[in-house]
Amino acid sequence: MQLAIAHSHVSGDGQFTRKCHAMLEDMLGVPKVLLTTSCTHALELAALLLEIQPGDEVIVPAFTFVSTLNAFVLRGARPVFADIRRDTLNLDESLLARLLTSRTKAIVVVHYAGVGCEMTPILDLAQRHGIPVVEDNAHGLLGKYKGRNLGSFGCLASQSFHETKNFHCGEGGALVINDPRYIQRAEILREKGTNRSRFFRGEVDKYTWVDVGSSYLPSDLLAAFLCAQLEAREKIQSRRARIWDSYRAQLCGWAEARGVALPTVPAHCEQPAHLFYLLLPTEADRDALIAHFRRLDILAVFHYQPLHLSEMGRKFGGSEGQCPVTESVSGRLLRLPLYTGMTEAEQAAVVTGLMGFDWKRESVHAQ
Ligand SMILES: Cc1ncc(COP(=O)(O)O)c(C=O)c1O
Repeated sequence: MQLAIAHSHVSGDGQFTRKCHAMLEDMLGVPKVLLTTSCTHALELAALLLEIQPGDEVIVPAFTFVSTLNAFVLRGARPVFADIRRDTLNLDESLLARLLTSRTKAIVVVHYAGVGCEMTPILDLAQRHGIPVVEDNAHGLLGKYKGRNLGSFGCLASQSFHETKNFHCGEGGALVINDPRYIQRAEILREKGTNRSRFFRGEVDKYTWVDVGSSYLPSDLLAAFLCAQLEAREKIQSRRARIWDSYRAQLCGWAEARGVALPTVPAHCEQPAHLFYLLLPTEADRDALIAHFRRLDILAVFHYQPLHLSEMGRKFGGSEGQCPVTESVSGRLLRLPLYTGMTEAEQAAVVTGLMGFDWKRESVHAQ
């Protein structure tokens, strides 16, 4: 960061941004990556690039973060909620065919916890119907499906560099462009609708307004921070993998005896140790366990309220029973603390706290 300041270029697209672009393109094996101010904004760019119009339909999993669909709803699209698989908690590809209509303009998949969606059947179906697939890969940088990097399957993909992610710069993201047809327009949309990127490369002698757009590029200060994180990726990933593996090894017997499910990672997927969750038998168990951890000063949180049942989701016709797996999982999922700097003693405190949970007594009290 000091270097970025020393070079007195701290606005967007300086040397550190370019370095991050090159590193991410290399890590993912993709033609183009553009840093953005967030994953949310990368998804907004995707919706603009796909020219989503009012009345279009976009298929999204009901179990995701609000940005996955808000980006498309902002352009006037109607979200069509797909339920998720019981094992990986990813969009259930077997439901896709019946959700398609003549208005479907995109399928957005989320690799939950960095475990790949079933991309082979999803891409097969999408290609047959000529529908673009966008990957919300907020969780999945360095995850793999059948040996190939998550983020490299859809025509476009988004990454998050929010503080909660494996690699971060406080707030940040990236748009991954796998279909080169979108590269030039993406650069323009990201730079206030101007061809400034071409001007910086010396391809035009002045830059001007050529399209709609907004300001989606982060300061080079943030890129400098992210650059250091990406350079340390092996160290970061090996620490996180150790924590993730240790949770699994220590908890599998405990979980099996209590009907608690641990994350499922199919043999053809590699997950990047982004998060580790428990699926408790009931919502009362989950809430009691959160309260139990809170008494121990351990922050363990749930994930995603079903989006079809949210205030906005209901305006789009969402109703109870529409996505039963999402509804069930959302009430029972608990994420255990997992962060790169977590010490063995901190992890031991979480595991000991979990083992000390008086299952019957505390769950009954929570009801
Ligand atoms: C699946 C998913 N998509 C998108 C986002 C939004 O990311 P950002 O905060 O970088 O906009 C999140 C946030 O955690 C997320 O979990």
